[in-house]
Amino acid sequence: MTDSPRPFPEGFLFGAATAAYQIEGAAFEGGRRASIWDTFSRVPGAVINADNGDVACDHYHRYADDVALMKSLGLDTYRFSVSWSRVRPDGGAVNQEGLDFYKRLVDELRENDILPWLTLYHWDLPQALQDRGGWAVRETADLFTEYALSVHDALGDRVDIWTTLNEPWCSSFLSYTGGIHAPGHFSITEGVLAAHHLLLGHGQTVRELRSRDASLNLGITLNLTVAEPADPQNPADVDAARRIDGQFNRWFLDPVFRGSYPADIVEDIRAVDAAAIDALEAATHEGDLATIAQPLDSLGVNYYHGEFVGGQPDPNPPIAGDAPTDRETGSPWPAGDDIHWHERGLPRTAMHWEVQPAGLTTLLERVWTEYAQAAGTTLYVTENGAAYDDELVVDDGEKRVHDGDRVEFLRGHLGAIVDAAEAGVDVKGYFYWSLLDNFEWAWGYEKRFGIVRVDYETQERTLKDSALEYRRVIAARAIDV
Ligand code: NOJ
Repeated sequence: MTDSPRPFPEGFLFGAATAAYQIEGAAFEGGRRASIWDTFSRVPGAVINADNGDVACDHYHRYADDVALMKSLGLDTYRFSVSWSRVRPDGGAVNQEGLDFYKRLVDELRENDILPWLTLYHWDLPQALQDRGGWAVRETADLFTEYALSVHDALGDRVDIWTTLNEPWCSSFLSYTGGIHAPGHFSITEGVLAAHHLLLGHGQTVRELRSRDASLNLGITLNLTVAEPADPQNPADVDAARRIDGQFNRWFLDPVFRGSYPADIVEDIRAVDAAAIDALEAATHEGDLATIAQPLDSLGVNYYHGEFVGGQPDPNPPIAGDAPTDRETGSPWPAGDDIHWHERGLPRTAMHWEVQPAGLTTLLERVWTEYAQAAGTTLYVTENGAAYDDELVVDDGEKRVHDGDRVEFLRGHLGAIVDAAEAGVDVKGYFYWSLLDNFEWAWGYEKRFGIVRVDYETQERTLKDSALEYRRVIAARAIDV
């Protein structure tokens, strides 16, 4: 606690985030066809409780009510994603009905003075394109740019802030190497190729959008982390932290800001699977890395937790992460699987993720000084949030969720952003993940991240205490932590 609330920087944007497949539902309405998540969620065992996004939060039909909720919270901005499977259902011809939905949503936001923050790809590749090789093939990068331009044709006059990709680490390594996300493959080669083609699609799209309209705010969102060795004196632990940093952070930050892949990680992957690096080299055409390294206006930082790692298993290991995201499985770590997560006594969320707000300050300072500052790129925390086992109670006839842990999580991370801003980092926004409880990928509906509770039987929305706290912070534009 400090004596007086500390203000957020001038012009700071307070928002909340969602993604198409996680909230929209209406999976086969309005001309939409299957994405890889429609397919994957039907693979036995892929998603807890065999849940899928067919209905989700029914946001496709309830978007106006959801915008009214945002307005009641005082949000400045709303980060959502467009479903490629609605806009170009087979990856080819444009489906006007799909675009019309996003026009209605964006118009509703603007009428309520909420800035639309549009993400073009949040993991729901049309299944028809996966059938042709998905992100492991170059054609997908070109089709992504075509898709992006058709979204811009429809919405360019009413959306100013465009993010190409959300968390390409997840849509490459977690999906094509770790098998945990759609399409559920287990190949290091496909993982590195997918990452390359995602980044290529990002760079091409930024270049094309920029040439159409120089006034757009263009960026990418990465899931970044802070890796610390369990014992800084133990070389194996230090090396495990280096490889985590390399695979999550530098594999994406280096090409985007410097036009190169990190040499140490290239060599680590080669040591595990030389054919994967041969394939990457063959797939990297002349000029690709320059295309990837387009100047960016914004970098979205998604931060949930840090990594406390060693080269050997912890004698007192963290509580098992349960399927499907148990980090001890090794498979999504192409740069060597002798990385082990250690326990350091921090509180944990229902995902078993550590709660470490100070890590966000460390991360923002590092990304700013090592990458964004020289490029003149502003940082935004485009996701941060926590799942807890919320309980719905009735107090004096009113439905409530007393999610004190989430309130503390939110306050701690907002304070960490003010710390970074006070240290000189240009960070201009925060998006809580998520506005609504929603389809948490391989975890289905079991994990609730929302500041708004969703009753999946009735689709009733209930503001949790965290939403009420967020509304207070937004109104004050300052925080007393
Ligand atoms: C990051 C992803 O972008 C989002 O889709 C997911 O639900 C959250 N993390 C929580 O895991």
